[in-house]
Amino acid sequence: MNPHLDKLQSYPFEKLRQLFAGSTPNPAFKPISLGMGEPKHPTPAFIRQALIDNLDGLANYPVTAGSEALRNAIASWLERRYGLPTLDRATQVLPVNGSREALFSFAQTVIAPDTGALVMCPNPFYQIYEGAAFLAGAEPYFVNSDPARNFSPDYDSVPEAVWQRVRLLFLCSPGNPTGAVLTLTDWEHLFALSERYNFIIAADECYSEIYHGDAPPLGAMQAANLLGLTKEGEPYARLVVFSSLSKRSNVPGMRSGFVAGDAQVLKKFLLYRTYHGSAMGPHVQAASVAAWADETHVEENRAQYRAKFAAITPLIQEVLDVQMPDAGFYLWADVTRSGLSDTEFARRLHAEYNVTVLPGSYLARDAHGSNPGRNRIRMALVAETEEGLEAARRIVQFCHQLKSQ
Ligand SMILES: Cc1ncc(COP(=O)(O)O)c(C=O)c1O
Repeated sequence: MNPHLDKLQSYPFEKLRQLFAGSTPNPAFKPISLGMGEPKHPTPAFIRQALIDNLDGLANYPVTAGSEALRNAIASWLERRYGLPTLDRATQVLPVNGSREALFSFAQTVIAPDTGALVMCPNPFYQIYEGAAFLAGAEPYFVNSDPARNFSPDYDSVPEAVWQRVRLLFLCSPGNPTGAVLTLTDWEHLFALSERYNFIIAADECYSEIYHGDAPPLGAMQAANLLGLTKEGEPYARLVVFSSLSKRSNVPGMRSGFVAGDAQVLKKFLLYRTYHGSAMGPHVQAASVAAWADETHVEENRAQYRAKFAAITPLIQEVLDVQMPDAGFYLWADVTRSGLSDTEFARRLHAEYNVTVLPGSYLARDAHGSNPGRNRIRMALVAETEEGLEAARRIVQFCHQLKSQ
């Protein structure tokens, strides 16, 4: 067996199951889960219809590079959304079956195994980055996000000897779980580091369309373009972005996303994917074309999240330290005021009020003397507003009860 498999940690939800084992949630309350970041708004009817209308495609093997129509829809979306100069449909975009499989397989493509390579990950982070690093025969190196800098990872703390070994850097903006969006200055710094130490940046942008302020989150390709990095040499050199329809269009079950950026890197990734057998089903490709071409449903989806966050966040703020995120659908709250650890908070909230939240320490690793998720909880505001409000009321009651004990 591949010995690297033994390095994989159990998933946060498995840890949660173990945490809750042996305690029965209070039957006086109906269960409400803010645990999993699974979109719950309905899939738009036109996307469902496009899937049905294109079932004839099942009779053919699809190509890994995707149809011309899909590559065009993706490139056009990127150009519109980020104000990019015309992209080469043949070389600068590639469909993937959701960003998760792509984030994982990308590391297998770009890492030379067992060469002492490091894969840099933010901390807290999306667990796939870590597993991707291990199974590519590399080691993850965690850079703690800093609440004082809007949760931006503190790259200045990284020693020179570490940078020398970094071959791949995972980034998540808007971040899961923090909701933080990297700034143009952050990107300028990162692009300079990538050039100096010759590593590839994998920018995970799957939450880019759910945002709470007026300005849409800055994208990595947009930043590269604004910084003039598309004008000379190879455009988007050493940069690949990962995006997805799962959250944007409420189709997590459809498994559709894309990668875009450095054409040289994507050429190798396409080769890898051809062998891996990861072509997207023709009906999914057709439905994805329809989804990327429409913004109305995305605006409606965003409006629903905004209303939900506006209603729920102030309630939670009464009892826990939490700020409105820049983007995404999580609240990343500090539970220190409650007097409980993140795990104890989650365990008791579940037992006493039947509300599930995820302990922050499950989403981060101990690194450099601390676990930056400790004393925080992640709440995914994915369900209907009324259910989220009910969960918030119970959290407020729970915290008041803790104070009076
Ligand atoms: C940060 C982050 N990246 C990627 C994904 C994967 O999303 P998908 O594979 O549905 O595109 C998720 C899913 O929750 C996520 O939270």
